[in-house]
Amino acid sequence: MKMEEFEVNPWDVKGVVDYEKLVKDFGISRLDEKVLKRIEKITGELHPMLRRGVFFAHRDFEWLLNEYEKGNKFFLYTGCGPSGPLHLGHIGTWLFTKWLQDKFDAALYFQFTDDEKFLFKNKSYEEIQKYLEDNMADVAALGFDPRKTHFLIDTRHASLLYPIAIKFAKKITFSIVKASFGMTNEDNIGKIFYTAMQAAPAVVPSVLAKKNIPCLIPLGVDQDPHFRVARDVYPKLGYYKPAILHSVFWPALKGPEGKMSSSDESSAIFLHDTPKDVERKIKKYAFSGGRDTIDEHRKLGGNPDVDVSFQFLKFMFIEDDAELARIESEYRSGRMLTSELKAIAIKKINAFLKKHQKKRAKITQKVLERNWLWAS
Ligand code: TRP
Repeated sequence: MKMEEFEVNPWDVKGVVDYEKLVKDFGISRLDEKVLKRIEKITGELHPMLRRGVFFAHRDFEWLLNEYEKGNKFFLYTGCGPSGPLHLGHIGTWLFTKWLQDKFDAALYFQFTDDEKFLFKNKSYEEIQKYLEDNMADVAALGFDPRKTHFLIDTRHASLLYPIAIKFAKKITFSIVKASFGMTNEDNIGKIFYTAMQAAPAVVPSVLAKKNIPCLIPLGVDQDPHFRVARDVYPKLGYYKPAILHSVFWPALKGPEGKMSSSDESSAIFLHDTPKDVERKIKKYAFSGGRDTIDEHRKLGGNPDVDVSFQFLKFMFIEDDAELARIESEYRSGRMLTSELKAIAIKKINAFLKKHQKKRAKITQKVLERNWLWAS
């Protein structure tokens, strides 16, 4: 792959992503000053991920706010594909979703696509079920309001989802799926159907309430193609098109190419990692914007724009803009060394994981059944 080439689809992210080009290719809109101001007016403050461009684009978000201001409240929908242990790259979107839930007092439908991961990954059904249990406990520990949050598992809640999914499936042809995802005649037939399952939760509350309710989907931009395919279908079935907020990818530990991935230990920090794991991985793998020698670094300064430890702090671990700006300028000037920057990242990440792991330990199977799983 040449330097300027990159690839983004729901199952693969390769190369250095050019988000400007992606906005054009996908036909999505930038979250510009005007939209951000509107959000701030309603919520009273902007989440750091909005201020710092982690969420950078949208579809129909202004329509959603118009509806909201008319008193037509929306619900949130997002999801998790259980194919391995969760890492930091997964949870940015969900922490932001929790913020939206709090600020807009919105219900959340959270889909777990065990069918998808079984069909697309070279893993057994049993293995996927194990990750499903594991991932659900992590998601439940992130702080969503259990009274307003409903977990949907594709295989378990099939009696709810399948009748909706077939209505989407009937209006999506194999040639559209081929063109959108690069599938071929050799792909299994479950994969070809899958987009219909991911489209379905965006109308579940409308189906249950027997009236149209607007939907907002926060997602990593790699998931957009499913909804691009499904968008034409929603109105054909009599529903609103869902609005979408798109986030950039979390950088892989090793550098700017691709994204964090659970299949590569050295690319990710997992939610179950110990303080020692985190220290080792950041020290050993985290791509640095520092110079080769201390002398050079002091003279020329570091580059926070490519430094993965700095990106972590910016994306999630430092909320205070002044604190982040101070670290950025210290590093850029060369006064702060890479080892010092890494020490800050290690400390912040470990503080977060410690709290998370404590909350997660309380989420048993029983708690999931009682408080989180959708029940008719
Ligand atoms: N397909 C997503 C994944 O592999 C999971 C998912 C299901 C999802 N529904 C979603 C993600 C809606 C974002 C929005 O992780």
